[in-house]
Amino acid sequence: MVFSLPVLPQPRTLPGPVLVERASPRSVRLSLTDRCDMACVYCRPSLRDGYLPAEDRLDPAQWEILVRGLVAQGVRRVRITGGEPLLFKGLVDVIARLRDLGVEDLALTTNASRLEHLAAPLRAAGLHRLNVSIDSLDAGTFARITRGGRLEEVLRGVDAALAQGFQEVKSNTVVLRGLNEHEPEDIVRWAWARGITPRFIEIMGVGEGGRIWKDRLVPAAETRRSIAHLLRDGNASQEPDRGPARYVPSRVLPGARVGFISGSTDTYCDGCDRLRATSDGVLRPCLSTNDGVSVAEDLKAGAGPEVVGERLREAWALKPDGRWKGCTEHTARAVNMRATGG
Ligand code: GTP
Ligand code: 5AD
Repeated sequence: MVFSLPVLPQPRTLPGPVLVERASPRSVRLSLTDRCDMACVYCRPSLRDGYLPAEDRLDPAQWEILVRGLVAQGVRRVRITGGEPLLFKGLVDVIARLRDLGVEDLALTTNASRLEHLAAPLRAAGLHRLNVSIDSLDAGTFARITRGGRLEEVLRGVDAALAQGFQEVKSNTVVLRGLNEHEPEDIVRWAWARGITPRFIEIMGVGEGGRIWKDRLVPAAETRRSIAHLLRDGNASQEPDRGPARYVPSRVLPGARVGFISGSTDTYCDGCDRLRATSDGVLRPCLSTNDGVSVAEDLKAGAGPEVVGERLREAWALKPDGRWKGCTEHTARAVNMRATGG
């Protein structure tokens, strides 16, 4: 089944997305659940607004078949996201199933509220890398941005992860005008002292972010200027086989660096090799549209990896071309970020 949400016609200066056949994707983000125990102001509506999460539709065995099908088509990197993936009961089982499928990179993005007790089982199950969202080191600001998140839980989760020796731990901070824009230096020093690579993210106008991004956006260039005394001059560079972040080396701590993700001022759709699978089993070729192809019914009916491969080809044919400007496109606001994973 092909889903495509209607969008209101809007004046455009660029031609619309063109449906093209592209090389198979190399990287997939699996949103295991759309549930989350935080409600960050740029991501999802307040829990008080009566939001009801969808059921978790796929189980660990179905996720395994899905990823087997994707790997057979050339996917080499898997990142687990949410919602908050640590709320998915079968998470450790999923990791253990995926570790032997021949993926080069098995990573997870989490808000870390439940990491204190899950870091060890996740590492033991075969997880390679972790990205932790942490928008403030001030408990009050943290609670405000996350609408109720508890900073001390997150810090305990980060400590537990560091004790496990993951290949890499990075932090994600969405820099928000009037909320945490003064914090990057503190966050850099906190992260570098622990061997964490800090990254600063521009708010994107995707989903709930569409309501506030124009007021809250702090351009990555501005954040970089605010910590320029800690960084080397020169261009930021992207890491091969990784996400959209661009990194600048430290000028004070050898080997350390800071990442910037500029989804709003400098979109990076060209060359995107990324696919998403949402918690309800829809393969989605782009963060910024709701277009996708469902594989849930196939999996429930007992389909194998080859059927997933067919659905993947259908989904990938919906990927917008390089003229597309991702999260600044008018379809981005209609995207359900909580089900897609940031
Ligand atoms: P690595 O670089 O492999 O560590 O991971 P990552 O940065 O891709 O993953 P993470 O989940 O930490 O995402 C960091 C930020 O990048 C988030 O704000 C995401 O919303 C953004 N991002 C990730 N994938 C995409 C994408 O396909 N399109 C856009 N526009 N932004 C993305
Ligand atoms: N803009 C920028 N980043 C976002 N994330 C979620 N929603 C948005 C948005 N609207 C980020 C989270 C998390 C990552 C997975 O996605 O901060 O670190």
